[in-house]
Amino acid sequence: MKDNLIFLGIETSCDETAASVVSVKNNKAVIHSNVISSQVEEHLKFGGVVPENAARSHAEKIDIIIKKAMTDSRCKFEDLDGIATTAGPGLLVCLMVGLSAGKTLAGFLKKPFLAINHLEGHALTPRMFEHIEFPYLLLLISGGHSQFLIAEGVGKYKRIGTSIDDALGEAFDKTAKMIGLSYPGGPKIEKLAEKGDPNFYKLPKPIFNNPGCNMSFAGLKTSILQISKKIKNKKAKENLAASFQKTINDILYKKCSNAMHEFLKLYKPKNNHFIVSGGVAANQSIRNNLRALSEKLNFSIFFPPFELCTDNGAMIAWAGIERFRLGFRDELNFEARPRWPLDMNAPFLKGAGVKH
Ligand code: KG4
Ligand code: ZN
Repeated sequence: MKDNLIFLGIETSCDETAASVVSVKNNKAVIHSNVISSQVEEHLKFGGVVPENAARSHAEKIDIIIKKAMTDSRCKFEDLDGIATTAGPGLLVCLMVGLSAGKTLAGFLKKPFLAINHLEGHALTPRMFEHIEFPYLLLLISGGHSQFLIAEGVGKYKRIGTSIDDALGEAFDKTAKMIGLSYPGGPKIEKLAEKGDPNFYKLPKPIFNNPGCNMSFAGLKTSILQISKKIKNKKAKENLAASFQKTINDILYKKCSNAMHEFLKLYKPKNNHFIVSGGVAANQSIRNNLRALSEKLNFSIFFPPFELCTDNGAMIAWAGIERFRLGFRDELNFEARPRWPLDMNAPFLKGAGVKH
């Protein structure tokens, strides 16, 4: 098999229209282009993503984004070894736009087609640049998901914990909205929190003392809503943002510690590797918190590069390459899967494999 495979990746599962050309050389990824068009401005008016609006916007832009990804990469369509496209989980009408584009291109160009699970894109991103062997412990924290998984191999995941209600990114976004910050709130809360007192407000930590590594973030909302109604000035908002972020960090520290112990007990791994990925993994305070825990429990921790934490086409192209190398191929009648958990055997709990 060629060792310098080159793939186009297409991503339209939520509010980013993205395409990227990635190749692999000596087992490391080379990103030739990474084009992302965010719909944030368009969704601001509604305080979040409205599926029909998002799908229309994807449809308007997808051709231009793919064309730009190809032009930026200086590759020709004929050079591609395959086309990888997100097929789920996500908003059905949005997924269908990228999927139709990817399947049409693959069919027309007679290239292999790979339907990618968006979550696997996040899960494999750090392997683009570092040799991280399976099995590893994975914390996936994004706008639609918060899960602990053991990545046993490409396409093989075991879920050991999940949020039983809101996803972590959702908690950040809702908190931001309650204190008057626009969508997406995660980066804005992080910034505001820098100036606040993290111990000013005592916020609830639901199921904190339960064994295992399930998490719950919905209870925080009620408490924050009540406080946010009473506060007016900037300082109080900074204190609330800082207290919220500290509460999240306390929950993550405890639950990641439980997950690490469980991973060691279940797998007795050769390497103690811990990957944190998804949009919320861009948060520096969370990174520092989990770095400290990893050091204490003797784990090596890996994050995606900052710009690959949130949704992008490069992670989809890379997942395509990883799957292609192992012989996976998908048919051109592959249908979008709005719900597509990485661990099909895990019991359904809200927040565990469903987006929005
Ligand atoms: O992975 P992603 O782009 O989309 C999904 O697959 O859901 O994640 C988006 C989420 C949003 O909820 C956003 O607020 C959050 O990631 N996020 C952050 C930060 N940057 C993005 N949350 C906290 N701190 C950040 N710096
Ligand atoms: Zn994502």
